[in-house]
Amino acid sequence: MCRIPDVCRFIILKKSLIYQLSKSVLREYINSFKRLFNLYYRDEYFMKGIVNTWLECVHCGKQYDLEQVRYNCECGGILDVKRDLSKIDGKKLKQLWESRWGMKRGPLSSGVWRYKELILDVAEEYIVTRQEGNTRLYPAGKAAEYAGIRNFLLKHEGENPTGSFKDRGMTCGATAAKIYDATSVACASTGNTSASMASYAAISGMKSIIFIPEGKIAYGKLAQALAFGGITLQIKGNFDDAMELVQEVCAKLNIYLLNSINPFRIEGQKAIGYEILQQLDWEVPDWFVIPGGNLGNNSALSKGLQELYELGIISKIPRIAVIQAEGSNPLARMWKNKTGYIPLKNPDTIATAIKIGNPVSWEKAMRGLEWCNGVVEDVTEQEIMDAKAMVDAAGIGAEPASCCSVAGAKKLVDMGIISPDAKVVGILTGNILKDPDAVVGYHKDTLRDMGIKGVYANKPHVIEPTLEAVKAAISGK
Ligand code: F0G
Repeated sequence: MCRIPDVCRFIILKKSLIYQLSKSVLREYINSFKRLFNLYYRDEYFMKGIVNTWLECVHCGKQYDLEQVRYNCECGGILDVKRDLSKIDGKKLKQLWESRWGMKRGPLSSGVWRYKELILDVAEEYIVTRQEGNTRLYPAGKAAEYAGIRNFLLKHEGENPTGSFKDRGMTCGATAAKIYDATSVACASTGNTSASMASYAAISGMKSIIFIPEGKIAYGKLAQALAFGGITLQIKGNFDDAMELVQEVCAKLNIYLLNSINPFRIEGQKAIGYEILQQLDWEVPDWFVIPGGNLGNNSALSKGLQELYELGIISKIPRIAVIQAEGSNPLARMWKNKTGYIPLKNPDTIATAIKIGNPVSWEKAMRGLEWCNGVVEDVTEQEIMDAKAMVDAAGIGAEPASCCSVAGAKKLVDMGIISPDAKVVGILTGNILKDPDAVVGYHKDTLRDMGIKGVYANKPHVIEPTLEAVKAAISGK
């Protein structure tokens, strides 16, 4: 057998060592070059030269450059993305958005990135998208009769790629994560944010870490988080505990936070209003009615509308009604009792998506409501589930939290706040299949221990396998 002389072996080993060493030095060089390149081009990504864009504290007004990853001000307040609207021609912008309507492919066919000039003006190749948005606006049918509103439309955000409105904010948050070179993203969630984040992380090669309250999220949502490969941490506590923990974890472990405290999430979420108005040929409704949990969605809606108003794209300010579940209603309490902000200790509701006692965006929500002369109302568990039965029976279908919109609209009509003749758009935030337990429980009338009766239950019939039994069941005997 041929033996390599020791001296040759030494040379080979040395050569391979030198090769390995020079490879790692080279890799280090390439990495630092990439870092420099990214820092330099971050300016380009954010198009700072064209329309100046920055972060600004909602509370004290302090401004920060976009180059820093930040979710809070030094004073503890949350941040807005602000841009110099005086540099934008509203008329031309509307024309540009109209020209993109119905695009068949590419990032600008998304119902978020169609409006990218007011979302995040980044180069198309950096956009992380699933062509989200482009959801339908339905006549509310039976739900309109139930609410007592003649001109009632329902915007179904449950038709987004992961089945909830969260995809609009998430496409923008995930794009920002990429621009900031994040490799891991995290969020606390009652289920929909985590389903969305896990999906957008999967398509863009990031690790997703999910904090959910143990045993308190709907099955469909948990299933999505697991299926999309999210590292799922079930916290022994509620959503508010998970929210506190994820902020600490992200700060200490350098993970990019993708809750709606992230100002880019709110920017993407604004597209919900833009798309509704474009679907209505820019005719502004009298009211938007929207559920409220962590209060990001309504804050985004009002911010987006305010920008359109400042640009002269709309000339009327619609009113916004935020609807909370009675058992999870810190904003409604604050609004009705005219107190300062007091978080709620043990929030509870069958609408698990909005089981939140300490919403991070309450200050943005208040600002938006003041701007549009909005209102806040809360609805009971029975009202939520009866309204849901109507949305479902209309053939549209949505998860419980979504149906706060219809329950709230009905209550506000009954209170004389919304006129039956008003033009009203209700936002349905999540798909009916997210929470099948709630649907089946209502229709089998097994939710009585939660104080909910199956008032409009459509019970399944258990029958003998005979023609007679079928005839009796379908004739209603
Ligand atoms: N509707 C659904 C279906 C939701 O999932 C949420 C929030 C809301 C309404 C309330 O929206 O928080 O912007 O006021 N879900 C979050 C989550 C909290 O983690 O999925 P918000």
